[in-house]
Amino acid sequence: MTPYGLTTEQRTEPLGIGERQPRLSWKSRSDRRGAAQTAYRITAEVLGRIVWDTGRRESDETLLVPWDGPVLQSVTRYHWRVQVWDETGAAAGQAQSWFETGLLHRDDWTAVWIGRDPVALPPVDPPTDEERSFPDPAAAPLYLWRDFELAEPPIRARLYATAHGVYEPSLNGEKVGDHELAPGWTEYHHRLQYQTYDVTGQVRAGVNVLGAIVADGWWSGHVGFDPSRPARHYGTAPAYLAQLVLDFADGSRRVIATDGDWQERPGPIRSADLLMGQFVDAGHHAGPAAPVAVLDTEPGPLVAEPDEPIRVTAEVPAVAVEQRGPGRFIVDFGQNLVGRVQLRIRGAGPGHRIVLRHAEVLTDGELYLDNLRRAQATDTYVTAGGDEVFEPQFTFHGFRYAEITGYPGVPAPADVTARVLHNNTPFTGRFACSDPTVEQLHANIVWGQRGNFVAVPTDCPQRDERLGWLADAQVFAPTATRNADVSAFLARWLRDVMDGQNADGAFRDVAPVLVLDREGAPAWGDAGVIIPWLLWRTYGDRRTLERSFAAMAAWVQHIRRHNPGLLWQNRTGNSYGDWLQVDADTPRDVLATAYFARSAQIVADAAEVLGRDSTPYRTLHAAIRKTFIEAYVGADGAVEGGTQTAYLLALGFDLLPPELVDAAVGHLAADIEKRGNRLTTGFVGVSLLCPVLSEHGRSDLAYALLHQDEFPSWGYSIRHGATTIWERWDGWTEHGGFQSAAMNSFNHYSLGSIGDWLYGHVAGIDQTPGSVAYRELLLRPQPGGRLTWARAEQETARGLVACGWSLDGELLTVTVAVPPGSTAVLEIPTSDPGSVRESGAPVPAEPSARGATVRLTSGRFTFTATSY
Ligand code: BGC
Repeated sequence: MTPYGLTTEQRTEPLGIGERQPRLSWKSRSDRRGAAQTAYRITAEVLGRIVWDTGRRESDETLLVPWDGPVLQSVTRYHWRVQVWDETGAAAGQAQSWFETGLLHRDDWTAVWIGRDPVALPPVDPPTDEERSFPDPAAAPLYLWRDFELAEPPIRARLYATAHGVYEPSLNGEKVGDHELAPGWTEYHHRLQYQTYDVTGQVRAGVNVLGAIVADGWWSGHVGFDPSRPARHYGTAPAYLAQLVLDFADGSRRVIATDGDWQERPGPIRSADLLMGQFVDAGHHAGPAAPVAVLDTEPGPLVAEPDEPIRVTAEVPAVAVEQRGPGRFIVDFGQNLVGRVQLRIRGAGPGHRIVLRHAEVLTDGELYLDNLRRAQATDTYVTAGGDEVFEPQFTFHGFRYAEITGYPGVPAPADVTARVLHNNTPFTGRFACSDPTVEQLHANIVWGQRGNFVAVPTDCPQRDERLGWLADAQVFAPTATRNADVSAFLARWLRDVMDGQNADGAFRDVAPVLVLDREGAPAWGDAGVIIPWLLWRTYGDRRTLERSFAAMAAWVQHIRRHNPGLLWQNRTGNSYGDWLQVDADTPRDVLATAYFARSAQIVADAAEVLGRDSTPYRTLHAAIRKTFIEAYVGADGAVEGGTQTAYLLALGFDLLPPELVDAAVGHLAADIEKRGNRLTTGFVGVSLLCPVLSEHGRSDLAYALLHQDEFPSWGYSIRHGATTIWERWDGWTEHGGFQSAAMNSFNHYSLGSIGDWLYGHVAGIDQTPGSVAYRELLLRPQPGGRLTWARAEQETARGLVACGWSLDGELLTVTVAVPPGSTAVLEIPTSDPGSVRESGAPVPAEPSARGATVRLTSGRFTFTATSY
């Protein structure tokens, strides 16, 4: 058995962590069945000296083991090693990793905030109207620098930096690091992230120039949709804070920090905005340098960046470049994506003005721009002459198509590349099956995740919105955890959710709170309860649950206080109901009360896990459930409203008396069937649709919905060329064309919440209700529809889990992988439990409702059986 996949704070070898008690994790792999860790020992060293040794601990724990060595020092690299023993008693293996601390104490920061002198009039070389094609604000980004001289190169150099705005640091004219749009977006007044860069190789003996470019970003640029507050949400202008820590061979340390000795001068980027785009005049001749102003000597609420930053993670080549006129081209990248275009220009000569516009779809062969609303998504480049490469760095767009105008000559497809940006969460899941449309659906879901995990989980990446909407995040989060390790990303964003909670206990609709200063709607605010619980169940992240618990409880108490009758009638707050449902009107109170029950239940479960008193929340949950039944459930199992979503909530959240469950499933199925196997669900209901059908023996109907390609369905969007998940079922229809441009994104992940079912039911990877972080797997492959095979793999917190099946006539083959330390309950869908064989040999299988059940230890297994 070999340990691998070592992480600190759920990240691989993180540089500059801020946690005082970081948590260490590892996984194991083994060829032996039944392998399991029985003991471990962790040792940690600094500069070859052991600082922590747990000794041998008789424990099967592998996840999030808290540091309990000596108090961590700032700017220090800790190498750690784990040794494990397995059930054979043998020392099984060891592996090593490291983490490095950032600036852990306020006093470690000597840097002060610098920026353009706010009272200097007139401002230095402001962009002209042409250079910023959008209204205020747009000061030219700051180009900041200072030089320093060294007698010898350091043995180690670290840059700690952040900005009000978005920044790109440089050393001796070269970009530092591979972050994009740092420092990302958080509730800046509560927490501003700083980044750590290893610049040892970039600092040299002699004169060095430390610099940065800083643009408005989320701090002072455009975000959101409110025309009365389009920008300047946190401040009026960008600013920078950085310190370079140099360690020399003789043990001395020198710190170069932002201070009044820095200078600034506007450069080629004449304006830059996340929504509007970037204007670059490559031949712009900078005016004289001006001294910077020290804006603040207090660093503010700095925190170390706790998750993987935004990076360029992929390049997508142009699949077609079509000329539409002199110098005008339409480029198709074949994929709706999020990022920006990199363009090569060869020998154009100076002063050519090249304009790039971006769109998700075409109409009559031209860019469809109306759905971007006020986001101009326009990048402009004025050539300097020679061979040039243009790629804007302080903006991002959601697009599949780009229009290039003013291009000198004809760009070859290789001259135009889309660069894909998002938080670099490790993609750890794979799903595949025999049906290309279903595989396309899965690809659309994954692309929606990439495109909307940019700084925060956003609703959409293209229009003037791009906000961290809570319901979108909570319905999609289970799917997100299948595709990628989003543990650190979601835990970080949850702090924004918690910070946004108001004094009365209400979570909001969006986090960070930027617009909509009111309490969150049902299913929106509830994300503050649902996501901490999901992180506990999926990743075993107890600390996030612990840190969130008071806020979770306060939300439930808030609802209760305002709804003493226990029906969440939401008279004080807003409600979106089952947002973007079609041909259905799920009563808002039914939806709200179901979520109230669900949240109360989660708070009770969380209390139990954390060793607190769960009784008040259990009692509350039981009372809400009873009230729900009295108010909304008929003697025949009918649920008020009679919509698919009404049934899905009642069934999915266990709000029906057991004797009425079958009847309710019957009503739900009848509604789907009478519409010719079509759905009516919106954002909220859709996340329960296929899972609830499968859990109640109606996978046949779930598959019918999966394969449906008439409106409304996933298949309909795919038949009409979708490469991401659309915001609305009717984003574009044969009968109505485009939906209202006022709200019509083609890259919204919410309706992609079916991804969880593809992994969990079609391929069959899940865990039992009491299991944490896939310790006890529930493997339940579910052949159906037109599929002849399907399989999924997930690199979970405990190691690789796989489940797949194939049908060859009557013969069903099921292959599974269970990681060391985990066990599994495998449900084989067979008509004959006696036919079950493992690697050819008969195995005892208990007959069960779904066929046959087999209990497994860790290992890889191949079963055959007679299919249904
Ligand atoms: C957003 C959604 C969000 C909704 C709330 C829209 O503007 O794009 O994704 O959940 O508002 O109703």
